[in-house]
Amino acid sequence: MSRAKKVAVLPGDGIGPEIVEQAVRVLHQVEKKFGCSLEFSYGMIGGGAIDRAGTPLPDETLQLCKQCDAVLLGAVGGPAWDHYPPEIRPEKALLQLRKELGLFSNLRPVMQFDGLESSSALRPEVIKDVDLVVVRELTGGIYFGEKTRINTPDGEVASDLLIYHEYEVERIVRQAFEIAEKRRKKVTSVDKANVLESSRLWRKVAEKVSQEYPDVTLEHMLVDNCAMQIVQRPSTFDVLVTENMFGDILSDEAAVLSGSIGLLPSASLGRGTFGLYEPVHGSAPDIAGQGVANPAATLLSAAMMLRYSFGYHEAANAVEEAVKQVIAKGFRTPDLIKEGQIKMAVDTEEFGALVIK
Ligand code: NAI
Ligand code: MG
Repeated sequence: MSRAKKVAVLPGDGIGPEIVEQAVRVLHQVEKKFGCSLEFSYGMIGGGAIDRAGTPLPDETLQLCKQCDAVLLGAVGGPAWDHYPPEIRPEKALLQLRKELGLFSNLRPVMQFDGLESSSALRPEVIKDVDLVVVRELTGGIYFGEKTRINTPDGEVASDLLIYHEYEVERIVRQAFEIAEKRRKKVTSVDKANVLESSRLWRKVAEKVSQEYPDVTLEHMLVDNCAMQIVQRPSTFDVLVTENMFGDILSDEAAVLSGSIGLLPSASLGRGTFGLYEPVHGSAPDIAGQGVANPAATLLSAAMMLRYSFGYHEAANAVEEAVKQVIAKGFRTPDLIKEGQIKMAVDTEEFGALVIK
């Protein structure tokens, strides 16, 4: 059997420790059921790390992540640290970690859960069969380009540079194709090539990379049209790949298709199979410590880790299927219960136990 896969576990702040605990329990069950071996090492990050070590990302945490095969993260931040200066805010740790680990791609899958159709803002017939992944470029583009701000006689002038190197586009587009090959074999590359030069480069590179994946279909779509199509015919998408800012906006838009923020996982990947896995939501200070947070997003993030970093596809499917079944059977953490609905209310720990069962 292959050597143990090393997982750096960073529970973080707020509900982070509660939801991560359930993910680790489920992963222990995966070890038993699928005969694989995982090794967990814990590190501190975020507000708790500021309190104990004076910095949101202690060097030992960074080193730990670099020595592991994957990182499982809860969430960081909370009101206790809101008044801290930007350099030592909890959120700073995430940006630094992504950068230090070269995680240039952010994957957000959006799927449909049986039994939750009525939780979405969209009509059930529209969101039926939704199963898509947004692949967002994470370390380039307008968020990282040069920024200027000057005073002129006519008032202030500000600029943000949207810049992409061919290699940056190539590696993210290739990742999208790799993912599409294991799914429904369709890539939608989203750009604004009718206006932006960087988008024209993006399109050219996408065409070039697509030659290497003859069984995957490539379509190009302008971002404004895509914003409309995501809510009009979401089930026709498989893998969407796009630059940093477009991806930021489209992935939040796509998130409404599922229903609750407590259900949405994410993966951040770089070269090779190393990845960082975390729920899309934050530390939810309003419900922290009550044991009622929905652990589903974190469990689904752990499933993504099994799939993308470890290649344990069967185990990943099993975890996803178990989460879906628990929800389909009517078990709900409070965030999924609408007023007037009669459902079987469970807490964080009970949800984890049902998934394990
Ligand atoms: P949030 O996602 O933490 O919470 C928004 C709302 O969703 C809250 O009402 C919360 O109770 C609910 N919610 C979130 N996750 C849930 C779950 N698993 N189960 C049930 N309900 C859940 O966003 P918010 O309130 O804007 O931010 C809170 C803190 O988290 C801030 O300090 C923020 O900076 C930080 N944050 C951290 C992120 C990260 O670590 N990746 C991402 C987003 C926010
Ligand atoms: Mg965003």
